[in-house]
Amino acid sequence: MRKINDQKALRTLNRLHKASSGEMGKILKGLSKGLFRKLQPKDMKDAYIAISKSQGEFLYDLLVEHQAKNIVEFGTSFGISTLYLAAAAKKNGGKVITTELLPEKCEVAQKNFEEAGLDDFIELRQGDAIQTLKHLDSSIDFLLMDGWNDLYLPLLRQLEPFFKDGTIIYTDNASFKSAKPYLDYIYSRPEKYRSRRLADDKGGSELTTVAA
Ligand SMILES: C[S@@+](CC[C@H](N)C(=O)[O-])C[C@H]1O[C@@H](n2cnc3c(N)ncnc32)[C@H](O)[C@@H]1O
Repeated sequence: MRKINDQKALRTLNRLHKASSGEMGKILKGLSKGLFRKLQPKDMKDAYIAISKSQGEFLYDLLVEHQAKNIVEFGTSFGISTLYLAAAAKKNGGKVITTELLPEKCEVAQKNFEEAGLDDFIELRQGDAIQTLKHLDSSIDFLLMDGWNDLYLPLLRQLEPFFKDGTIIYTDNASFKSAKPYLDYIYSRPEKYRSRRLADDKGGSELTTVAA
């Protein structure tokens, strides 16, 4: 497995993983707000809710193997996943476009990108992904879906014109009930999407490849 050997980026990633590992209280506090109404992104404004180190290492290896250059991410949070994608973009001569709804999370994420020395490889678009990802200037090699699950399907459909033969989509939290319409759509189009469940733990992850 290829590993990130950029020490500056690794130092920031280690710091962020350590900080995110102690956030169960913040997550439970956020989730409690969703008991009597629909959970909203601002309920999780203090929580990383990030991918794990092993998921990040898997993504880095996958992106380097496939020489992915045009990388798009839905759901930046404080930027842990983005840093893995950006480390691969740096190696592949590409860039990451990532988007986050909450301005306060964007502010911290941008500082993390600078601290890691990877900010030159990241374009952070603040706002609702449906708006911020309307305009892309090239087709997508790799897409990370890791925002609010009920937007997965509308966002996928919006991004379909930017898919090409071999575009890879990694979907986090794929086991959540709210991701079902999205996965049903993918599985109902076997001529366009080849998909498989990678893991069922941590909310589940799905790997999908687009056929032209
Ligand atoms: C699970 S977290 C992302 C974690 C991040 N990918 C990581 O691994 O470090 C999901 C993020 O999506 C953001 N989000 C939710 N709805 C959004 C929307 N409509 N547009 C952009 N971001 C959104 C949330 O604010 C939250 O920070």
